Amino acid sequence: MSHVAQHTIDSSRYAKCVEVSKRIRWDTDRDVIRGRQFDFGKNFLPDGLSKAAQLTFLTADEKRLFSQVQGRTYANMFALVERFIGVKVLEISQGHWLGDQVALEALVRLTDEELKHQEMFRRLESMAASGMPPGYRFLPQPNDVAQAVLAASTWAVLALVCDIELFSQAHYRSSIDPETQIDALWKDVFLFHWKEESQHAILDEMEWMREDEKLDGTQRDRAVDELIGLVAAVDGICQMQAQADAEYFARVAGRSFDAEQQRAIHATTLAAYRWQYILSGVQDARFLEIMGSMINAEQGARISAALAPIAAAVH
Ligand SMILES: [Fe+2]
Ligand SMILES: [Fe+2]
Repeated sequence: MSHVAQHTIDSSRYAKCVEVSKRIRWDTDRDVIRGRQFDFGKNFLPDGLSKAAQLTFLTADEKRLFSQVQGRTYANMFALVERFIGVKVLEISQGHWLGDQVALEALVRLTDEELKHQEMFRRLESMAASGMPPGYRFLPQPNDVAQAVLAASTWAVLALVCDIELFSQAHYRSSIDPETQIDALWKDVFLFHWKEESQHAILDEMEWMREDEKLDGTQRDRAVDELIGLVAAVDGICQMQAQADAEYFARVAGRSFDAEQQRAIHATTLAAYRWQYILSGVQDARFLEIMGSMINAEQGARISAALAPIAAAVH
């Protein structure tokens, strides 16, 4: 396999991303929030994401609360991942500083959009907080996570970022499921986020492939291991927060649950987070196609083996 160290840039694909980004550009207040608050009589996340329907012993009100706790964590998780995504894209934009100025513009716009999204998700967190009982805690620290992630090689980080941009689109598709009845503001959050993330996914793919061309076999092999390490780190975050959220839910639900029910609440929360923050991206057909074009069968098997225990618990 020969990977030549020449990086041809398809300027027209970057130009298309810039053009769409300008056309669909939205403002958090004017287009998304529009002076609204959350309706706590509605679900925040669709069942396809929260897996609330699997907890058959919960009442309808309890299932709704379960989805609201997860919605609050959703806002916190996106604000967290967008911290390192923005910084990483700012860093790789250096590869275009004195090169293709359209590519540079596309990456600057992506970074600007992620900063806007972070601010939006911080506001959604405080709006959620205002209508929920005290005691909720979001445990992972965005800067600590960013520092750990950014220590990995660019190939591995871009793989993780590509996973995230693709799963944000999968989440939008869950939110428009006709079966789903979620709060109108949350529905708009999924819609507007997806509109900008669609361009991000294309840009990540191009940057990831560009990075891939620079690596030799040994470097790529090491990067695959680093990606496996990053996925394990995200899984650690899912486990930590699932524990905190399951305990918070059980505490504020207003009745006691027996040990078996508590175990089920915890297991379902963890399965939901593993689906939301890992599997809905890495199992996406586009992700598998892009990654499959870069790695060999042995590396693919190593990644599958690392994902198997995570996927096994998710139905
Ligand atoms: Fe975003
Ligand atoms: Fe993004």
